[in-house]
Amino acid sequence: MTAPLSPETIAIVKSTAPALQRHGLAITNRMYERLFADAEIKALFDQAAQESGEQPKRLAAAILAYAKNVDNLGALTQAVERMAQRHVDTGVKPEHYPAVATALLPAIKDVLGDAVDQRVLDAWGEAYWFLAHILIGKEKALCQREAA
Ligand code: HEM
Repeated sequence: MTAPLSPETIAIVKSTAPALQRHGLAITNRMYERLFADAEIKALFDQAAQESGEQPKRLAAAILAYAKNVDNLGALTQAVERMAQRHVDTGVKPEHYPAVATALLPAIKDVLGDAVDQRVLDAWGEAYWFLAHILIGKEKALCQREAA
């Protein structure tokens, strides 16, 4: 069981929602640029959905929805189920999650620059792993169900 996010982390993550609303797509585009330096990870993705801009848009929307609802995760249940199913269908594994964290957090800094300090990055790091553990748990359950 992952420890709950602290009230301070929740407040910081929620305070970044307006910046994510404006710059979310630039952040996810930058994130994929960093992530796709790894050819094995790049191969998991449908490149047509990258080139059309669909996947960066979906991820930006998911990150924004998470920032807004980080204190009300029930609102994200359906979206999280859909992400987990898509991850299972495309072969995403728990060991891929660190690479996305390592691409996403610097991408936030690359795009938002001085508007974010280490406190914000640490809060997002914690929030990322909180959601990642929820997804990893759901993906494991889906794989077990599909294998049964
Ligand atoms: C907390 C972490 C993550 C979040 C919030 C997230 C979010 C999403 C979202 C919103 C989608 C689109 C689902 C849809 O079809 O509506 C998606 C799809 C996908 N995600 Fe993730 N994801 C995360 C971690 C990862 C990791 C670690 C990988 C592996 C490197 C990954 C690989 C993929 C792939 C391959 C797809 C399908 C994209 C396609 O259609 O080409 N994701 N994810």
